[in-house]
Amino acid sequence: MSYHAEYTRSIEAPEEFWAEKAAELAWFKQPEKILSKDENGIDRWFADGEMNTAYMALDYHVENGRGDQPAVIYDSPVADTKRVYTYREMRDQVAAFAGVLKAQGVEKGDRVVIYMPMVPEALIAMYAVARLGAIHSVVFGGFAPHELAVRIEDAEPKVIVTASCGIEVSKVLEYKPMLDAAIEQSAHKPDACVILQRPQAKAELIPGRDLDWETAIASAEPADCVPVKGTDPLYILYTSGTTGKPKGVVRDNGGHATAMNYSMKAIYNIEPGDVFLAASDVGWVVGHSYIVYAPLLAGATTIVYEGKPVRTPDAGAFWRLCEEYKIKALFAAPTAFRAIKKEDPEGAQIGNYDLSNLEIIFMAGERLDPPTYHWTVEKTGKPVIDHWWQTETGWAICGNLMGVEAKEPKPGSATLPVPGFNVQILDPEGNEMPAGEQGAIAVKLPLPPSCLPTIWNNHERFAAGYLADFPGYYTSGDGGYKDEDGYVFIMGRTDDVINVAGHRLSTGEMEEIVADHPAVAECAVIGINDSLKGQVPIGLVLLKDGVDIDEEELEKELVAMVRKDIGPIACFNRALVVQRLPKTRSGKILRKLMRQIADGQEYKVPSTIDDPSSLSEIEELMDQRGLVASS
Ligand code: COA
Ligand code: AMP
Repeated sequence: MSYHAEYTRSIEAPEEFWAEKAAELAWFKQPEKILSKDENGIDRWFADGEMNTAYMALDYHVENGRGDQPAVIYDSPVADTKRVYTYREMRDQVAAFAGVLKAQGVEKGDRVVIYMPMVPEALIAMYAVARLGAIHSVVFGGFAPHELAVRIEDAEPKVIVTASCGIEVSKVLEYKPMLDAAIEQSAHKPDACVILQRPQAKAELIPGRDLDWETAIASAEPADCVPVKGTDPLYILYTSGTTGKPKGVVRDNGGHATAMNYSMKAIYNIEPGDVFLAASDVGWVVGHSYIVYAPLLAGATTIVYEGKPVRTPDAGAFWRLCEEYKIKALFAAPTAFRAIKKEDPEGAQIGNYDLSNLEIIFMAGERLDPPTYHWTVEKTGKPVIDHWWQTETGWAICGNLMGVEAKEPKPGSATLPVPGFNVQILDPEGNEMPAGEQGAIAVKLPLPPSCLPTIWNNHERFAAGYLADFPGYYTSGDGGYKDEDGYVFIMGRTDDVINVAGHRLSTGEMEEIVADHPAVAECAVIGINDSLKGQVPIGLVLLKDGVDIDEEELEKELVAMVRKDIGPIACFNRALVVQRLPKTRSGKILRKLMRQIADGQEYKVPSTIDDPSSLSEIEELMDQRGLVASS
């Protein structure tokens, strides 16, 4: 089938298109209402369908002959462990853990927070929550207690599931003290916590609140799948916005399962029985979609890799996995390949492994810079596919549909809109822009299945943040353009969200932390280009009058504050004292201009600037500190 035919049908006859895709799944009751409006006037898919995501992904496959096929392969160089779970073993473990949660009172609609490293028990916990019709909220293990506390307070979980520790290359990071600190900080307290004890660090359990995973699961009464509606939430995943408060992206069950299952074949060309590696983390959307849910909904095998692309033990890690598990498609962030390239520029490790099963390499999460694209193509000899997506959508908005019709890639482009996404480039007045001209990337409503219908506890924020800029469109927050062939080029965020090593972070949130320092009168945090991590944040701070503080000491304190509140993944390592921050006459800090200066780009001084010399001062300072890229 041609891409054009598939895409056109998805836009012109969306209900027929998605009804057909939904029918490929094992619903308890097939949906009849395909597209309808909810109480907020938002388009919703499959409102009257009845289903259970864990049933579709596990029980259904066991009942249909896949019981002995590997479902999950756990490979941990850091814990020196490998383990294969068949579909039957996964189903049984999930049913048993659902029994543990049920015994703690977890019911349909209740929330369960999961704060775990990359271990198979994280998937077991997620599916167990789904089995009960409850709602999980997974928090990335690299976040500090404060971030965890914010999420606990917003999601109000009945139970929290964690592990005693995570392992970062050779560091053992104890999770339990972080969990205890987060619960202490949060106004909401869970009824119970379940702790997976790992041999690398045993946690001390609090009697009456904490349960040991092993003991609890050993005596659990397995729980059945609870039917939910297509529109009932499966999970909440918090993501960074422009303010300090993360946004709880809500994902429903029916649209999600439909889009996940469709995407495995259409985008990734994965068939039942194939092996897929998404080298991300269960704490991010890529992990939710392509480590946990999509591969199993599609009857494939997923890899849970607890390691890095480099240093565990070397830059051959991905290639070793590809050979050992006969991986057909590998998906990772460009940062991972930049790290491999840095350690193994000639790609010598690639030649040490048999990559004959590997057909395609997919990249997403941040801009795929052409040098990384070319290096990966040249050294591996495999097609490299860039695709663009967001936590909000749960799957790719633009991509190259390898299971429908492979298009010629263009370096720097995420190729064409994925079926269901009517992608348009708009000017500030909401007019569609001609080819080649840059504007806001928006998606004409209705959004296809799996996209967020709301923000947890805050529908106004959803409406204001995504639907208000251009009536009838979803605003992506990214800017870019289409070329003459309709290929979409993503040029970066139009707001204060940055991407550090494929991790989405808010500079606004960092500003709130930095501004809390007693010496700081005002500050701006901007993301500047970084050759390994894509972007890293830097702080520009204005001191309060009369404050006398050593600049290096201040930098150390600010770095420690961001690390403590957000976590080490923020990579906030530089803070510069400035005499003035460039602003418009109405007082708006010109962050974008400072970013352009640091990135060595040409910039236009706006007519609204208060004092143009403030910009040259910043440029000089950044230059002195070696922060201006040669462009
Ligand atoms: N739990 C706890 N801490 C974590 C963590 C986790 N899951 N992940 C990262 N960190 C810590 C690191 O230990 C490091 O701490 P340090 O400053 O004390 O050394 C800090 O956060 C920064 O980590 P990172 O940005 O990952 O840098 P790195 O040098 O350790 O690794 C890469 C660099 C490129 C190898 C790594 O960032 C990577 O694999 N990136 C791909 C990211 C990805 O898959 N993103 C998913 C989006 S699709
Ligand atoms: P997240 O919600 O963490 O998946 O981050 C989403 C953001 O990452 C997007 O809004 C983009 O800014 C960026 N992003 C993701 N994929 C790509 C890509 N292929 N090209 C450019 N930017 C991307």
